[in-house]
Amino acid sequence: MTEIGKIVVRLEEVDSTNEYAKELIGQGAKEGTLVISGIQTGGKGRLDRIWESPKGGLWISVALKPKGGLVGDKLGILPLMAGCAVAKAVNAVSGLDTRLKWPNDVMINGKKMSGILAESIIHDDDRWVIIGMGINVNNNVQEGYDFSSVSTSIIEEKGSPTEIEQLEIQLICELERLYNMAVEGQDKEILNEWRSTADTLGRKVLILRQKDELAGIAKDIDDKGALILELEDGSTEIVLAGDCQHIDV
Ligand code: BTN
Repeated sequence: MTEIGKIVVRLEEVDSTNEYAKELIGQGAKEGTLVISGIQTGGKGRLDRIWESPKGGLWISVALKPKGGLVGDKLGILPLMAGCAVAKAVNAVSGLDTRLKWPNDVMINGKKMSGILAESIIHDDDRWVIIGMGINVNNNVQEGYDFSSVSTSIIEEKGSPTEIEQLEIQLICELERLYNMAVEGQDKEILNEWRSTADTLGRKVLILRQKDELAGIAKDIDDKGALILELEDGSTEIVLAGDCQHIDV
């Protein structure tokens, strides 16, 4: 069983916890190592965006060296499982109704509270996956900085501060549980957890891709986490990546 968070590197400030985790892997870090920083000066979001990371949020990355059958396109399950872990952990400490927007944004009341950035590197012939999780906890998010969603934080939705240490503990437990399920090949169970937490399925959505946009009904996700979209002409498109907007809110 892989233990997550046996080694935790805590920093006051760093450019990006994902970048720092990559450096640690280069120096021989153990699988499951966590990097947590109070502030990120160069926080990175999906699709080359900036991720604002002021004091009060939880900016955290985990270094994973997937094994067993967790190779190739099976790795696509990892960002989905991280979204599930964040949604469950935030719900456990705040009682708020957390929902997933495909692929792995964590939403509260239709607003984005957390995002996941998964990156992959090869070190000494081994594939590593770094999963970075950005959670707006006690920081006020004045205006949305992700154009696909309005942003929020736990404090804005709950009205009172959250103990970040409690959230860390819950998140580590959930990551460890779900990651070990993934290593053991329990993809179906993880995908079902994602489905039961998701807010995207059954909705009318707009998918923004680099070169085009697609509108349709989000029917389901496939066994690799891609979105199964029914287009207006009745045909089906499998969407591997892109920004998703719920347009029937
Ligand atoms: C997104 O665009 O939704 C993904 C945001 C991911 C942000 C996190 S914060 C911790 C880790 N370090 C980074 O630089 N990015 C991720």
